[in-house]
Amino acid sequence: LHDYTAVNEPIRDYLPGSTDRERLEKRLSYFSNTCSDVPIVIGDDVYTTSDVRHQVMPFDHQKKLAKFSYADKALIQKAIDVAVKAQRDWERQSYEKRADVFLRAAKLMQEEYRMDLMATTMLGQAKTIIQAEIDSTCELIDFLNFNVMFGHEATKYQPISLGSITNTLSYRGMEGFWASVTPFNFTAIGGNLSSAPAIAGNTVLWKPSDTAVLSNYTVFKIFREAGLPPGVINFVPADGPVFGGAVTSSPHLAGVNFTGSVETFETLWKSISTNLPNFRSFPRMIGECGGKNYHLVHPSADLDSVVNGTIMSAFEFGGQKCSACSRLFLPQSCAQEVIDRLVAIQEEIKVGSPLLVENYLSAVIDDKAFTRIKGYIDHARSSESCEILAGGGYDDSKGYFIQPTIILCKDPNDKLLTEEIFGPVLSIYVYDEKEVADLLTRIDSNTRYGLTGSIYAKDSEVVDSWKDFLRFSAGNMYINDKSTGSVVGQQPFGGARKSGTNDKAGGPHYLLKFMSPLAIKTNS
Ligand code: SER
Repeated sequence: LHDYTAVNEPIRDYLPGSTDRERLEKRLSYFSNTCSDVPIVIGDDVYTTSDVRHQVMPFDHQKKLAKFSYADKALIQKAIDVAVKAQRDWERQSYEKRADVFLRAAKLMQEEYRMDLMATTMLGQAKTIIQAEIDSTCELIDFLNFNVMFGHEATKYQPISLGSITNTLSYRGMEGFWASVTPFNFTAIGGNLSSAPAIAGNTVLWKPSDTAVLSNYTVFKIFREAGLPPGVINFVPADGPVFGGAVTSSPHLAGVNFTGSVETFETLWKSISTNLPNFRSFPRMIGECGGKNYHLVHPSADLDSVVNGTIMSAFEFGGQKCSACSRLFLPQSCAQEVIDRLVAIQEEIKVGSPLLVENYLSAVIDDKAFTRIKGYIDHARSSESCEILAGGGYDDSKGYFIQPTIILCKDPNDKLLTEEIFGPVLSIYVYDEKEVADLLTRIDSNTRYGLTGSIYAKDSEVVDSWKDFLRFSAGNMYINDKSTGSVVGQQPFGGARKSGTNDKAGGPHYLLKFMSPLAIKTNS
């Protein structure tokens, strides 16, 4: 590993007629005509229970993509026992040996299983080709390759030895097991949250999201095929509260690696706090919990990049990236022009099956998301201080479709400007340039989140002072660029405040979070 340098996986274009496109079409056809069985995998054994569930295609919800079942308490306990038992042997392997497994997995993902990852993500999570490519292949492969490199770099440091004293640090994994609870919106996050603790020498119970179970199982199978020993990562679909209750009451819990809602993360913290005396070690909590991300525009901004960046950030993948722009602040001087241009583009945007290239976005993930987002649109429709400028339609008769929607809010405290919506809804507030100080304060403190934010301004003094004022409003800030699309190794990703513990996935220190170093002083 000593001369290994990770490089970002190039994004492919899947042009019609290309070999990649033909290979992808074949796998799409296979998976869309099959209801795949997804088991619970604990050690080397596969299980199903009577609590059977289905993953459907969000854009055609009568179509079942996968059948899986929830692990019950006894099976979750079995997975804990297996993970705890597997931990010692796995942790004793050298870093290089463990890393090799995941470098091999990344290789398998580049060619052999690329189309399986793409197809299961497109069909199961309703991602268009480009969104699936960014997520389920490039970002996933990058996480594996970069984590291996960063982990290796982090474990190089050895302390100073003097005279007859030799000091060493050995970068152990942690005793017990990690629980990785992963979301639907990025297949790559599932792969990252389950593999990073394992690379560092831990064993894992991976609870995938119900709505991403097939793509996540595809990732899991690749890990195993790449040589991951049984029991190191255990694949445990389960009911959230049952899983959370079981792992947080085990004395062997080493940590929770989580992406999901603030509420669920807080529930896990609370549950851990009530069990504190029972744990063998203090569980570490790593969490990524959403955002209410902003694009803030100055009169000096380049409006082309404001318009294009905002459309992409707000509407790609239906606004279901935790980094998606959901509040846009425009100065009076250019508000009308920007609004007109956003509305004109919105009118051209097509929503439908992710399998058709003309569609810019597809359905939102499930009925719960549909109901929640619809609620915000209905609020705008009935509120006197809101005006729906474009979109506002929804229809769940075939899939969970919501039109990209642009809303003008006159009340700066409206919930459309303060609460996370996690859908294709962009709220706009037009500010008076004389009241910038108030505006900045509101942007900074009107939400509980601090994930991403973009400042669009050519005036560098403005950039410097806004960036400074807003420095805790985001974990990832963008200047003259959109708030989505962080790249592993380029923009380490994570949010402050209630957006999470800001441990920066895709960054150089991430792997250290899963290590418990041992310092040894030897006097010869
Ligand atoms: N990393 C993604 C982005 O930046 C979100 O998870 O868009």
